[in-house]
Amino acid sequence: MNRFHDQVVLVTGGAQGLGAAMAARFAAEGAIVAIGDVNTDAATALADSLQQQYDRPCAGHRVDVTDSESVNAWIEQVVADHGRIDVLVNNAGIIRDNRIEDIDDADWRSVVDASMTGSFYCTRAVLPHMRSRQYGRIVSFSSMSWRGNFGQANYVAAKAGIVGLTRTIALETARDGITANAIAPGLIETPMLASMNAPAREKLISKVPQRKTGQPEDIAEAAAYLCSPAAGYVSGVVLDVDGGLGIGSSIR
Ligand SMILES: NC(=O)c1ccc[n+]([C@@H]2O[C@H](COP(=O)([O-])OP(=O)(O)OC[C@H]3O[C@@H](n4cnc5c(N)ncnc54)[C@H](O)[C@@H]3O)[C@@H](O)[C@H]2O)c1
Repeated sequence: MNRFHDQVVLVTGGAQGLGAAMAARFAAEGAIVAIGDVNTDAATALADSLQQQYDRPCAGHRVDVTDSESVNAWIEQVVADHGRIDVLVNNAGIIRDNRIEDIDDADWRSVVDASMTGSFYCTRAVLPHMRSRQYGRIVSFSSMSWRGNFGQANYVAAKAGIVGLTRTIALETARDGITANAIAPGLIETPMLASMNAPAREKLISKVPQRKTGQPEDIAEAAAYLCSPAAGYVSGVVLDVDGGLGIGSSIR
């Protein structure tokens, strides 16, 4: 498929993990991909390899989504280079897990800022460009944890905030050809999951109705659908990509 031919797609946190899988998928489908990440070397290396592989003008930029000046400068640069923005993927996020009494101010703020505030800054910066062309697709990263999770108050607050932010973006842009949706991944095979000790990992997987983890490509597939021109009547949803984990408890 070539659903994103010549579209300009921004992926925050695209240097590794799910963001890298999505950047590769968009480039494979013809997009001009701009990766914004604090890890400049990895972002640039990935963009260079995508450019070579797919012959698209991809670029990696040093962007800290918690800093609105950094975000605004990135968006202006991309618009100056390519003249448009079609898709924004708000993927950057971090975890600093602890019980509530042990979350210090810095660990609260850094998690909320990277996921939720960063998604707000990037969305605010791209909207004028999307509105002027009456077209846009915005996907932001929540998590299955948004419903509540032990030891993750900062992350849960940020990921639940993204659900509310997404629904509000969807309402405010509904007449401008723009959609806003969220993806709530479950257990996806990333370095973080691989680093878990085997018993903890098996215990988690045993709670997934499908009894298996997801792959980064499962997330890229969902993001590509929500960001495609054909998904224009889908807005304000949270798409669980989790093998059924979000359904809740089961006796089997
Ligand atoms: N991996 C999972 O199983 C899973 C599950 C649920 C939700 N998620 C969410 O999906 C997203 C991607 O997860 P991942 O596992 O690929 O994470 P990851 O840690 O592998 O990658 C995150 C990327 O974001 C970048 N980043 C961090 N802070 C940044 C900032 N301030 N500005 C710009 N870039 C920044 C990092 O450098 C990194 O490249 C996150 O929002 C995460 O919360 C992941």
